[in-house]
Amino acid sequence: MKTQLQITPKERAQRRQEFIGRIKGGAAFLFAAPHAIRNHDVHHPYRQDSNFYYLTGLDEPESVAIFNPQSKKPFTLFLEPKDKTKELWEGKMLGLEGARQKLGADEAKSSHDPNAFEEAAIEALLQADRLYYRVGVNTLRDQLIFSLMVKAAKKLGRTGRSLWPIFDPSEVLGEMRLVKSANEIACLQVAANITAQAHTEAMRYCKPGMYEFELEAALFHSFRAAGAGRLGYGSIVASGENACVLHYVNNQRKMQESDLILIDAGAEYEYYTADITRCFPVGTHFSPEQKEVYQSVLLAQKECVAMAKPGRTLKEIHQHAVEVLTEELKRLKVLKGTTASLIKSEAYRPFYPHGTGHWLGMDVHDLGRYYEETYSNSRKLKPGMVFTVEPGLYFSADSKVPAKFKGIGVRIEDDVLITEKGHHVLTSAVPKEVEEIESLRS
Ligand code: GLY
Ligand code: MN
Ligand code: MN
Repeated sequence: MKTQLQITPKERAQRRQEFIGRIKGGAAFLFAAPHAIRNHDVHHPYRQDSNFYYLTGLDEPESVAIFNPQSKKPFTLFLEPKDKTKELWEGKMLGLEGARQKLGADEAKSSHDPNAFEEAAIEALLQADRLYYRVGVNTLRDQLIFSLMVKAAKKLGRTGRSLWPIFDPSEVLGEMRLVKSANEIACLQVAANITAQAHTEAMRYCKPGMYEFELEAALFHSFRAAGAGRLGYGSIVASGENACVLHYVNNQRKMQESDLILIDAGAEYEYYTADITRCFPVGTHFSPEQKEVYQSVLLAQKECVAMAKPGRTLKEIHQHAVEVLTEELKRLKVLKGTTASLIKSEAYRPFYPHGTGHWLGMDVHDLGRYYEETYSNSRKLKPGMVFTVEPGLYFSADSKVPAKFKGIGVRIEDDVLITEKGHHVLTSAVPKEVEEIESLRS
């Protein structure tokens, strides 16, 4: 199934208009992601920087965008001009005319001409009182931008003003990207559907004696065959105690019948990613201990999902996960004491060391502030926000837990959209009840 759903050029033009409105009085320089070398003369597959793609729709490296709200032509793209030899080896390039016609650039110039960038950058700076540019990604680029600021400042003459203050454009773009449009939600839903289908197929396909990488390959096959562009992040296929390594991506172990397996994997569709975690037995049934731990996490996960509605905060959801998991840790005889004192001393942390959710969108850990005004003031959820709910419990072999629980790691993760009335779980198609999972496994 290959769907044609896409973010339209019109929506991108609206995004640029909003961005330009938000940075009015300033200027923004946004750089494309580099084409990273994998080894010698081989590159990693190219994936554009999310902010750059969000505003431009251009998926070519070596590109730069200048936004100058004070100009009649506020959007200039610098990109590689068409090159017949390069096209022969690597495929069609957009070219300068394509950038104007297809992407709506007011101006398109060659990225091979450093003077063209310098001129436009200085012109934009001279009309701006601040600069939006992400410092710290590339040192050489930082030096170039700082030297252009010094050059531009010299042109100002004796005005008494200092160099331009610099803001990270991710702050502004994070706010724009946090509340998803109908098209963005539709893309996320496609990513979620593809991912849900792949997780369900992996639950059917897994057999004792298989290697973790066989499941990783099966997931990748399902994603690509269903039209996903790529992975949203490296797939975690963690059997047995490997599930206690939060970002385990080695995926080399041979799975045993008695193992539980944790899969955290997400497909990216049109630059929007899903993020799903499910755990299931490599054999046909959960062991009693695995089931106990699994049910504890499932209880926390379902209650946290149920809380999601406008006005709630991720902090409240996390606090609830901590409460339920602490109660469950007491029930499992891992912790002893009053729930309040165990929460206060963070006694749960060795077994639950991460947060309960994060924003989700073009990046798996999407942009957007988690607070309002002050760091301690957690942000209220609004319709259109998308985030994960992913509590877990991790009992590594060296953890202080009853012997029967050692080596069990469980996380359950769904992707949740806030709606006017409450929420919608984008990833509800993957089973998570014990009975459903066991029936798929047998
Ligand atoms: N897949 C990474 C995460 O769940 O945050
Ligand atoms: Mn996640
Ligand atoms: Mn995840």
